[in-house]
This record gives sequence, C-alpha cells and structure tokens, in this order.
Amino acid sequence: MQLSPLQSRLAASVIASCLLFLLYLVLFPPQFALAAELDLIPTTYDVAALGYEREDEVDTSGPVDLRSPKYDPEFALFDRSIIGRAADNVITLGDNQLERSNLAPGVTMTYVFLASSVSSREAGDTKVSAELRRSLDDAEELPVDGLEDEDVTSTPELERRQQATKTLWISANTCEQPWPASPAQTTIEPPQLTLYVSTSAENTSPGPLANANSQKATPFTQGAVMFNVPINRDVYFSVSAPNVSSENFDTTRQYNFILVPSTDQYYYSYDTKADDDLIWVDSDAGAALLQTKYLTNTSDEVISTLPYIIFAHNQNNVMINGMRNSYCGLSNYAQIRNLDDGSSGQVTMGLKKSGEKNLTRQEFYVTGLNASSNYIGILARAPVESTQKRQDDNSSIGGGIVFQPTTFDTKPEGACTFIFNLTLCDETQYAVPGNAQKFPNGTALAAFYENYTQTMWSNFDKVLQQVPCETSSVAKYSLARDCDDCKTAYKNWLCSVAVPRCEDFSTPDRKYLQMRNIAAPFPNGTTVNQTLLDDYSHLKAYNSSRNPMIDQEIEPGPYKELLPCESLCYELVQSCPASMGFTCPRPGSEFGFNTSYGRQIGGSLSCNYPGSAHFLNGASTLSASCFGLVGLIAVFFMLVL
Ligand SMILES: *[C@@H]1O[C@H](CO)[C@@H](O)[C@H](O)[C@H]1NC(C)=O
Ligand SMILES: *[C@@H]1O[C@H](CO)[C@@H](O)[C@H](O)[C@H]1NC(C)=O
Ligand SMILES: *[C@@H]1O[C@H](CO)[C@@H](O)[C@H](O)[C@H]1NC(C)=O
Ligand SMILES: *[C@@H]1O[C@H](CO)[C@@H](O)[C@H](O)[C@H]1NC(C)=O
Ligand SMILES: *[C@@H]1O[C@H](CO)[C@@H](O)[C@H](O)[C@H]1NC(C)=O
Ligand SMILES: *[C@@H]1O[C@H](CO)[C@@H](O)[C@H](O)[C@H]1NC(C)=O
Ligand SMILES: *[C@@H]1O[C@H](CO)[C@@H](O)[C@H](O)[C@H]1NC(C)=O
Ligand SMILES: *[C@@H]1O[C@H](CO)[C@@H](O)[C@H](O)[C@H]1NC(C)=O
Ligand SMILES: *[C@@H]1O[C@H](CO)[C@@H](O)[C@H](O)[C@H]1NC(C)=O
Ligand SMILES: *[C@@H]1O[C@H](CO)[C@@H](O)[C@H](O)[C@H]1NC(C)=O
Ligand SMILES: *[C@@H]1O[C@H](CO)[C@@H](O)[C@H](O)[C@H]1NC(C)=O
Ligand SMILES: *[C@@H]1O[C@H](CO)[C@@H](O)[C@H](O)[C@H]1NC(C)=O
Repeated sequence: MQLSPLQSRLAASVIASCLLFLLYLVLFPPQFALAAELDLIPTTYDVAALGYEREDEVDTSGPVDLRSPKYDPEFALFDRSIIGRAADNVITLGDNQLERSNLAPGVTMTYVFLASSVSSREAGDTKVSAELRRSLDDAEELPVDGLEDEDVTSTPELERRQQATKTLWISANTCEQPWPASPAQTTIEPPQLTLYVSTSAENTSPGPLANANSQKATPFTQGAVMFNVPINRDVYFSVSAPNVSSENFDTTRQYNFILVPSTDQYYYSYDTKADDDLIWVDSDAGAALLQTKYLTNTSDEVISTLPYIIFAHNQNNVMINGMRNSYCGLSNYAQIRNLDDGSSGQVTMGLKKSGEKNLTRQEFYVTGLNASSNYIGILARAPVESTQKRQDDNSSIGGGIVFQPTTFDTKPEGACTFIFNLTLCDETQYAVPGNAQKFPNGTALAAFYENYTQTMWSNFDKVLQQVPCETSSVAKYSLARDCDDCKTAYKNWLCSVAVPRCEDFSTPDRKYLQMRNIAAPFPNGTTVNQTLLDDYSHLKAYNSSRNPMIDQEIEPGPYKELLPCESLCYELVQSCPASMGFTCPRPGSEFGFNTSYGRQIGGSLSCNYPGSAHFLNGASTLSASCFGLVGLIAVFFMLVL
C-alpha cells in the first residue's frame, strides 16, 4: 500500500511519539509495574530448589521472592490472628495438602482451611508455577480479615484476587476400617466415617456434638466423600468415626483416612452412576478381558499414556466391602490391582483401536483368577500427586476417580481358552475351544486360529481378484457395494464363523448356544450324558465342530458355541459379487439356520459378532442395516475353495 505524503508524516510522528514514551518508561520505570518481570522467570527452574525461607525483615530493595504456589502461609502476623481464634486441637491444612490419620471409633478430628491461604498465594493460573514479587508487597497486602475486607488497589495481583470466589473441593478416602470380628460375618459392612463442614465462626469444631444447623454432615459412601464449599471465609471441617459394635467388628483396628482440601478439583472422587465405564468382554476359567468405553472421538486423536488402572476382587471376599469407592482402600485391599507397587503381575494393559471409526479403548487382561468365581472389576484413575505436577504443567494435582464396579465371572471348566491379539481377526477377543494339553496357553492357541483364518483369507483374496472391482461403474458387479465392502463383510463373517465363541459344556442351555463335538470324550475321559448322545450324536451339527480343523488339530472335547449373528451372513451375501456363490440358510430350515446362526435379542450378548462384549446397556456395534432381510437365502456351507 502506498501512503500519501501526509499519511507518511503522520505515521512517522506517531512512531516517534511511541518511541519517546517507551524511552520514558525505560528511564523512569513506574514502581507498580511488577508484572513485566514475570517473563523473566526461567520456566525450567526447579522452583522448590530456588525458593528460600522468607525473613521477616522489610526491605523495599529486598531480593525477589520466588516460590511455588503450593507453600503454606507462615507469616507471623497472619498466623496468630487467624489461628488464635480456632480451638486448640484444630489442624490447619493447606491447598492440596494430603492429611493422613488414624481414627479410633467414636473420635473426631478437626481441620481448618484458611480463606487467607488462598488469597495470599493466588496466582489464578495453574500454568504459572511461581510468583515473583518483592517481599514488601507481601507484608503490605496481607489481608487482615479475609477476602471481603480487602482494599482494592491498582496492582495486578490484587485485581486477580477480586475475581470470582474460589471453591474448596474437600475429598477423603477411607484407607483402613475395622475388620469383621469373624470371617463368617459377611453381611454387615463396617459403619462409614462422616465429614462435617462448617463455615460459621460460631462453630469452629464441627462434629457429631456441634449444633447441626451450623454445619453440614456428609457420611462417606463406600469409603469416599466429596464436598465443595465457596471459600469466602475460613472453612472448618472434621472427620468423625462412628461407634463400632465390638460384637461384629474387631474394634482394635482403627479407621485410617486421607483427607485433601484443594482449590483446583477433587483429589479423590467417585462416579455415581453405572454406565458401562468398564465393559467385560469375555473370560475363560482363569483370565478375563475388560475394556473401557472409547476414549477418543476421532481416529487421529492419539493417547500416549494409559489413563486408567483396574482393581478386581472376588465377590465372596469381604475385605473391600464399605470401601468400593475409595481409591486408597482399594489400593490396600483389592485382590488384584495394577499399581506401581509390584502387584501388577496379574494385569496386562494396552490401548486398542477398534470399531468402524478406529477409536481407541484401553484394555485390561486379568490373569490368575479362580475358576467358577464371580468378580467385580473397578476402573479407576490415580490422582496426580504434587511431585508429578512439576514435570507436567498441563495436569493439575488430584483428579483421581473410581468408577462403579462391573461384575464378571470365570468359566467353570477348562474347555475354552481366551485368545486375543490376532492379526486378521483383530476384533476377535473371546474364549475359543481349546485343549490344555496340546495348547497350554492362549498364545499357542491363537497361532492356530491365526494360521487358519489367514489361509482362508488368502484363498478368498485370490477369488476376489478375478472380480472386476476397479472398473467403470457400468462393469462393476454392483452400484451400491464395492470390493472393500465385500472384504469387510467377509472378514467379519470369517472371524465369527471360523473362530467359534466357546462356552463350557456344563453351561445351561439357552437360545443360540449350540452343542458341538458331543461324540468326543472330555479331557478326563468321561463322555456326555448318554441321553444326549442317543438323541444328537448322529447329527453332524452336534457331533463335530463347524470348522473340521478344530476337531482334528485341537481336539477340544464337547463344548457349546455361541452362534454368530445372522446379519453377518446377510451382509456378506449382499456385499460380495453373486459369482462368488455366497448364500445363507433359510430361517426355519431343519438343522440349517438354527444350528448355524443366532439373532440379536435386545442388547444382550445373544449372538457373536466382531467386537461383541457383555455390554450393560445393550450398546451394539452391529450395523442395523443388516436386519430384516429375507430375500437372499439358501443353504450355505463353509466356504472351502
Ligand atoms: C459413642 O459412644 C460414647 C460412649 O458410649 C458416647 O458418649 C458417644 O456419644 C457415642 N458417639 C456417637 C457418635 O454416637
Ligand atoms: C467427545 O465428544 C463428547 C461430546 O461432544 C465430549 O463430551 C467429550 O469430551 C469428547 N471426548 C474427547 C476425548 O474429546
Ligand atoms: C485404523 O488404524 C490403523 C492403524 O492406525 C490403520 O492401519 C487402519 O487402516 C485404520 N482403519 C480405518 C478403518 O481407518
Ligand atoms: C482363589 O481361591 C482361593 C481359595 O478359595 C482364595 O484363597 C483366593 O483368594 C482366590 N483368589 C482369587 C483371585 O479369587
Ligand atoms: C501442554 O498442552 C499443550 C497443548 O494443550 C501441549 O502443546 C504441550 O506440549 C503440553 N505440555 C506438556 C508438558 O505436556
Ligand atoms: C500382540 O502381538 C504382537 C505381535 O503380533 C506382540 O508384539 C504383542 O506383544 C502382543 N500383545 C500381547 C498383549 O500379547
Ligand atoms: C505358551 O506355550 C508355548 C508352547 O506351546 C511356549 O513355548 C510359550 O513359552 C508359552 N508362552 C507363555 C507366555 O507361557
Ligand atoms: C497352517 O495351516 C495349514 C493348513 O491350514 C497347515 O498346513 C500349516 O502347517 C499350518 N501352519 C502352522 C504354522 O501351523
Ligand atoms: C469330567 O469333565 C467334565 C467336563 O469338564 C465334568 O463335567 C465331569 O464332572 C468330569 N468327570 C469327572 C469324573 O471328573
Ligand atoms: C441325562 O440328561 C437327562 C435330561 O437332560 C436327565 O433326565 C438324565 O437324568 C441325565 N442322565 C444322567 C445319567 O445324568
Ligand atoms: C456325526 O454325524 C454324521 C452325520 O450326521 C455321521 O456320519 C457321523 O458318523 C457322526 N459321527 C460320529 C462320531 O458319531
Ligand atoms: C429354530 O428356532 C426357532 C426359534 O427358536 C423355532 O421356532 C424353530 O422350531 C427351530 N427350528 C428347528 C428345525 O429346530
């Protein structure tokens, strides 16, 4: 852009004025312009190492005071005026300070969080890891009586303090509790602790004996409590242990809890509603696979660290009763827990992309379980500790959460073995017919199924290559489907049909659970009930596996197969060229449909499909378009090319 002579002159004089003004600022710096120095803090410094104890001397030219925002106020003036008012046995807690204490039944511990401890340290921004100010400023700015009385001046720090009142997030976890007096006592849970909170100056010792109108009592729920309150004055709170009947409990064992007040967020929290946070995929007699919901919304989102951990516990064991929402209690007493304390051997974790949209889940493979047992699995996220915070400014302290338990069980016998981590059938993660003698672990068994599915796939691929896929739409076999649709449909069908989803033979009969291989003996040499043999052993659908290789190579003994969903077959017939000859059995055809395919009933796991799991709310990854098709049907056999 060209400037006219007049404009150029104006621009020149404006620039000159600005430069003059800057020169003035440099020569005569105004005394209040402290904020400008913030940028000088080298962000990589270890703040704690740089900090030093503040002396009481007041010196305007004094050294610059650099400290972490997490310090506790220890100003002589200030301490005496505030704490002097509280009862003697009140413990002052700072922001994000972990208070761990024993508590005998019937005893109450009282704490105070000083409103002034927020205002005197308030940096307003979690990304600012240190404050820089002259010592004198601290002394001058000490609020004498809480936030309300503070003078408004023009310094930037005070302006920040005037912003909306902060909230105090109080959370606590029970870590220990009285044990049952006898192992037989399994029905009564230990009584819960109670949190009392008071912001009234009249009630500085909240608890069971104080006036109920001046305080709020919140009993712990399964060993955890959350309470928040605005910090416009000092907050008094106490944790009180109930009286415990020595008839039912060993009262020599005290309660033990961790209490954390925080101005950022709850240090410990728990989720109150059960909504499929942890999903049981499948299990065999000694292991189970559980997964989270999708953690990402798009396939290109990358999760670099495993966000969650898992606790698992036998439902017959009472040790975690009363502490199921307590991260601390579960860390101490859950039978299976994958913490960094060396107890993680039974859990293998990983991230897995799956589903049509390639979204990420976290998965937990839990081993070392007892057969024929019922378990609960509890998903949790560990709170971020203050020591971790310095390395990673993005995460603030706390944020621990415990989700609602998911129940799962293990199979009674060893006929089925859980496999996962196949290459072609990447969504196949369930128990399959196995043989503990020939295939001692899931890895070896998975290799067999991998080899088989890969062989079938390469045969299919050879045939598909003879189909005009890449030609003009006139020559294509279908306007609606292309070869990629056919490949996907075949893969889904093959993985569900060639790798049967297995249940032990003793599993009670239900719809779409098909007996297989009943003529063979069990591993211990016995055979199935003679009545059954007489009725069914002459039928191929009962006396063998659908995939004959399984009977030859694995020799699993009798088992039951959860049939694949019929929609997988319909989708295949619709998506692939008619010349490939795929057909599906007619529903109602004698021993065709009923022994080959199942149907989705509601949201239950009534038939097998890629990605199927024990979804609580019936969320299904099956696409609805496959249902309700009755046009394309004929008897169908395993594709052997
Ligand atoms: C617990 O028992 C003692 C003595 O029996 C009694 O004084 C106290 O009030 C009881 N506390 C509660 C919270 O019930
Ligand atoms: C995914 O989207 C939902 C709703 O839009 C949102 O609440 C959630 O935070 C998003 N999750 C992630 C990981 O971005
Ligand atoms: C999913 O992601 C994997 C690897 O990240 C990629 O190989 C695959 O093609 C993706 N699938 C889809 C459907 O986007
Ligand atoms: C398995 O059973 C034994 C004996 O009943 C029991 O001691 C053990 O705690 C159980 N382990 C698990 C993980 O359920
Ligand atoms: C903090 O988050 C920003 C973006 O949200 C990212 O660019 C940066 O790398 C993160 N820093 C750390 C230490 O994780
Ligand atoms: C899954 O298989 C890959 C190689 O195919 C292997 O590197 C990885 O360790 C396996 N994962 C598990 C959990 O076994
Ligand atoms: C699984 O079994 C095979 C032998 O079939 C053995 O070589 C391998 O080490 C076993 N793997 C594990 C993890 O036990
Ligand atoms: C894979 O399967 C084919 C036949 O299906 C068999 O001949 C071959 O030996 C198998 N390979 C392995 C490594 O099991
Ligand atoms: C043999 O094994 C089957 C299935 O595992 C079981 O039902 C049966 O009770 C066993 N019989 C004996 C005598 O152990
Ligand atoms: C075999 O099963 C039938 C019915 O399923 C039952 O009536 C019969 O008692 C069983 N026989 C034996 C020996 O268990
Ligand atoms: C299984 O059934 C087929 C056909 O129904 C029959 O030919 C075969 O002999 C049976 N096998 C056994 C072991 O009973
Ligand atoms: C197949 O199952 C359906 C529904 O369960 C039933 O009505 C039908 O009689 C069965 N057909 C045969 C041949 O068993």
